[in-house]
Amino acid sequence: MKNTETLTAAPIVAEADGKETANARQFYRDVITGLTSTPKYLNSKYFYDAAGDKIFQELMACDEYYPTNCELEIFSEKTVEICRVMIGNSDPFDLIELGAGDATKSSYLLQNLLDNKAAFTYLPIDISDNVISYLNITLPVTLPGLRFTGLNGDYFDMLTKAASLSDNRKVVMFLGSNIGNMATVEAERFCAELRKHLSPGDMLLIGFDLKKNPATVLAAYNDKKGITRRFNLNLLERINRELNADFDIRKFEHYPTYDPETGACKSYLVSTCEQQVKIGMEMIAFAKDEYIFMEISQKFTVAETEKMAVNAGFMPVEQFFDSKTWFLDAVWLAG
Ligand code: AVJ
Repeated sequence: MKNTETLTAAPIVAEADGKETANARQFYRDVITGLTSTPKYLNSKYFYDAAGDKIFQELMACDEYYPTNCELEIFSEKTVEICRVMIGNSDPFDLIELGAGDATKSSYLLQNLLDNKAAFTYLPIDISDNVISYLNITLPVTLPGLRFTGLNGDYFDMLTKAASLSDNRKVVMFLGSNIGNMATVEAERFCAELRKHLSPGDMLLIGFDLKKNPATVLAAYNDKKGITRRFNLNLLERINRELNADFDIRKFEHYPTYDPETGACKSYLVSTCEQQVKIGMEMIAFAKDEYIFMEISQKFTVAETEKMAVNAGFMPVEQFFDSKTWFLDAVWLAG
């Protein structure tokens, strides 16, 4: 599948009312918690509603946003090597993808595994129900013969569910530098928690965006067409749409930063004036120049990724780089 195809082609499959209400309540609680904290923040996992998924696809196709192209290069150039590692001794396995998105990146690997008649079931997990409905419709067409079950929900809930579906060994993919959306301490805790859901010999294929020229990094989060800006502002619009709020997005400015020392790329929305925003029953006050911390996209050195593996109970066993060494897909073995 090409990057340019859009996720909105998929009809939204109506969820059971109960689940929808529970999700909306959680979203409301998280938004209010974040916006009544000092400093204010929103959780970047909420970027991905149907509109956000579509903007992210535009972002992946824009000139400045390099991570997707780097990882696609790795998967298209090193397909055979990566699949050989996954297939290992040929025991059947569950191939679990955390945050599968439209599965464009993993499709190279999936196709090669199918070509090699590998015994596996693909279990894409995504927080976006829009994404899972889309995969349910497209995967049978784009990858005929693929055995798969899409799982919509939080990573660890769905990982537990995946484990209850079969006793097969697990190969988990966590691609696209999604790990970068957590601060380093949190990322390490996440990997340790992931390790607890796995057994010795299980495998993790994990993507890291590497430290590089700071101007290159910053440009990827400050693209000229303003797609990243729209991506951030869409979360305020989503809050308006889903939580009966009245954000005026013209009164917020996108402010991206990158610190080459720590590798932390962070984005903020800054209030251009003193203002009050109504969200459901709450009124939230913003001072002029007050910011909302929106997202971290952490960048790593190779050594930092190796340290993280060991601290979380994994052994780093293989490393696949793109030709510019901007991105790393690492294979970690559960010890
Ligand atoms: C999907 C989390 C990998 O952090 O680079 C892109 C999201 N945010 N531009 C990233 C994102 C702004 C992206 N990840």
